[in-house]
Amino acid sequence: MDGFKLHIIEKIVDELGSEGVDESSLEVPPDPKMGDYAFPCFTFSKRLKKSPQQIAEYLKGKIGTDDIISEVQSNGPYLNLFVNKSKLAEQTLKEVAEKKDKYGTSSAGKNQRVVIEFPSPNTNKPLHLGHLRNMALGESMANIIASQGYGLSRANLNNDRGIHICKSMLAYQRWGDGKTPGSEGRKSDHFVGDYYVMYNLKEKEDASLTGEAQEMLLKWEAGDKEVRALWEKMNTWAFDGFEETYKTFGLPAFNKVYYESNTYMKGKEVVMAGLKKGVFSRRDDGAVVVDLEDEGLGEKVLMRADGTSVYVTQDLYLAQMKHDDFKYDKSVYVVASEQNYHFKVLFTLLKKLGHDFADGCYHFSYGMVLLPEGKMKSREGTVVDADDMMLEMQELARDEITRRYDDLEEQEIHDRSMVIGIGALKFYLLATDSIKDMTFHKEQSISFEGETGPYVQYAHARICSIFRKYGKPVGADVDFGLLKDDVEKEVIKKIQDFPDAVAAAAEHYRPSIITRHLLDLGQLFSTFYNSCPVLKAEDEKLVKARLFLCDCVRQVLANGLHLLGIKAPEEM
Ligand code: ARG
Repeated sequence: MDGFKLHIIEKIVDELGSEGVDESSLEVPPDPKMGDYAFPCFTFSKRLKKSPQQIAEYLKGKIGTDDIISEVQSNGPYLNLFVNKSKLAEQTLKEVAEKKDKYGTSSAGKNQRVVIEFPSPNTNKPLHLGHLRNMALGESMANIIASQGYGLSRANLNNDRGIHICKSMLAYQRWGDGKTPGSEGRKSDHFVGDYYVMYNLKEKEDASLTGEAQEMLLKWEAGDKEVRALWEKMNTWAFDGFEETYKTFGLPAFNKVYYESNTYMKGKEVVMAGLKKGVFSRRDDGAVVVDLEDEGLGEKVLMRADGTSVYVTQDLYLAQMKHDDFKYDKSVYVVASEQNYHFKVLFTLLKKLGHDFADGCYHFSYGMVLLPEGKMKSREGTVVDADDMMLEMQELARDEITRRYDDLEEQEIHDRSMVIGIGALKFYLLATDSIKDMTFHKEQSISFEGETGPYVQYAHARICSIFRKYGKPVGADVDFGLLKDDVEKEVIKKIQDFPDAVAAAAEHYRPSIITRHLLDLGQLFSTFYNSCPVLKAEDEKLVKARLFLCDCVRQVLANGLHLLGIKAPEEM
């Protein structure tokens, strides 16, 4: 909570006692004319045996003005408070100037460890549009959580074994003809994916393939040399391709990468141990199951009758391994909402097995991404490819850039379209609440004028250009009292609220709180810039004060974009 709110709350507590008064008690009135903060008095009626109106009136009489509170009004059941403008400006802006890229961070999570897992692909096909949402959410939440002082680690899991992998392998073995990604000039994970598609087509004509794939899986489990070599080869292609995709998307390196091929056997051991302990039971057909009727999750198979493992098996061990590796207080899984049931089961099982860390496990679930034309596509059974989508975004950005400038070098156009295209994509994916399904509108996302990433990037670049024009340092001897305009105050308040917005985004797993905040700040800045001349202000003192404000806006935009995993360009 910022110092202003804290000060007001303390004053109220002095009068009413602390019961029912905390940082959430202060509201922001819809109209700034009604004050900077409003304190609703309804809930105290009973205890104080007074009407809310009387309480507001009483507080108004008791809470006088001081160097922070410039005016107090009672308005029916509300106490409305105005804060001292120049104090607000000075404190807020000085703090930004001092903390710079640390403005918005906190130490709330000190001494606590969080591990966040994403995007955890399967190695039989390339990444798709859903993975882009996954990575945007995973990366931004990683940054946001880290900004609150938690010890944060990024983990990735490769589901690199199982029947689906064997399907690509079988198709390649049959029809690959010694071709390689190199010989075909195909990105290597796409090359693998092609054989997965081929398998599915061929299987429709020849049902015996199903059995062959299963046989291959058994051979794989038995460590068959030839099968393992093929598996190694194709997985390496898949991984190399993923790496490229991560790089284009701008993901930093993971602290740890897990492989299902290393954990699934141990997962089976966990199941057997649970069986021994009586937590799980054996069904008549030989399958190991657990009864989760009481939890409303039905009966869950943990190991098939033939001894093969199921999806949750590997996760039982992985959770423990992650805990050994990171000693986490919180373990976050960024996985689509299709797997809600899976994670409910997983966390319930971890608890049944007696792991305290189960309480710290959290499924950060997100909805589907559709395209406007997407319905037809999904009926065809094809998905939108992540690499193609990123390329399309860059091309759209390129169009936008070349429309605006005709004198840029090719390299510059390329670099900018990368920053803007990927920025637009991420911002759009983050702006919708993660829990909802969403439709991705490419053209809309790239517009410099809408509620988009490029709009925020552009606001940032525009401020940078003001400073290029000014051409000299602003200095610190600024008279903050000169920032008297209402819109200046609104801009400053948005800046002041930024740390709370970041904290809220971390607490509620909602990067959209930050996208919203940046859009609001960008819009307020634009109103300010249109009504308050900066370089052409009446005198040099005002020029300096306004420049100082501009620089703080720039800093907050940059910090916010950074938290979202988006670059803040100086020119656009
Ligand atoms: N590879 C899985 C999929 O693509 C997601 C894995 C999620 N993580 C986990 N620990 N289960 O559906």
